[in-house]
Amino acid sequence: FAFTPDNLAWAQAQITKYPEGRQASAIIPLLWRAQEQEGWLTRPAIEAVADMLGMAYMRALEVASFYFMFQLQPVGSVAHIQICGTTSCMICGAEDLIAVCREKIADKAHALSADGKFSWEEVECLGACTNAPMAQIGKDYYEDLTTDKLRDLLDALARGDVPQVGPQNGRFASEPASGIT
Ligand code: FES
Repeated sequence: FAFTPDNLAWAQAQITKYPEGRQASAIIPLLWRAQEQEGWLTRPAIEAVADMLGMAYMRALEVASFYFMFQLQPVGSVAHIQICGTTSCMICGAEDLIAVCREKIADKAHALSADGKFSWEEVECLGACTNAPMAQIGKDYYEDLTTDKLRDLLDALARGDVPQVGPQNGRFASEPASGIT
């Protein structure tokens, strides 16, 4: 693994933001950039980041394996679907969304679909509980999902379309109620 020249320059700039002796604090942005470059975090990528930061590989792996924003195995080439399965989403139908993922992508979490385009997993609360149930795809949130909306979303992504992010039923929780200023 090697960062592209642009990513290497960006990574080196991140490291300089931390005080001398604290370079390891740059690990999360560097791992994230490595994942964006490769699609997932290979062992060589984690080793390269650890070397840049003067850390042991195991220390870097501890961070990479703690957060579910990091993927330690290959993900779908089009999208990796993260379905929130925590309380609000569970009550509002997360299990039905997971059933759609099992049917349309793969029976097991983290497995690739037959065409290699999709993968999925269940994750913990993503902080969008008010618009449950929801899923994260890449950096984007898709909220107020139904099974039909999730099917449409997967079909749109498979076609190469760029679906509308945010609430899928048209409501926006951040909008103030009428009359409130
Ligand atoms: Fe699903 Fe919080 S419970 S976003």
